[in-house]
Amino acid sequence: MYVCLCQGVTDGQIRDAIYEGCCSYREVRETLGVGTQCGKCACLAKQVVRETLGEVQSGNALAYSANFVAA
Ligand code: FES
Repeated sequence: MYVCLCQGVTDGQIRDAIYEGCCSYREVRETLGVGTQCGKCACLAKQVVRETLGEVQSGNALAYSANFVAA
């Protein structure tokens, strides 16, 4: 699903950025450019970041992260 139409950023890309080491909305924005034009996506983008960080912290994404590191 597209979160940011201006930059063509999907929720999957935001999740990947977090699995790759981003740990805040600011870092995701700097990495992907999400929310840097019209800004309409900021609210949704922050929500995706928050949800994903929650998953990472609760360990649900550990298997995925481990695969990513191993690959
Ligand atoms: S939709 Fe993300 S900056 Fe416009």
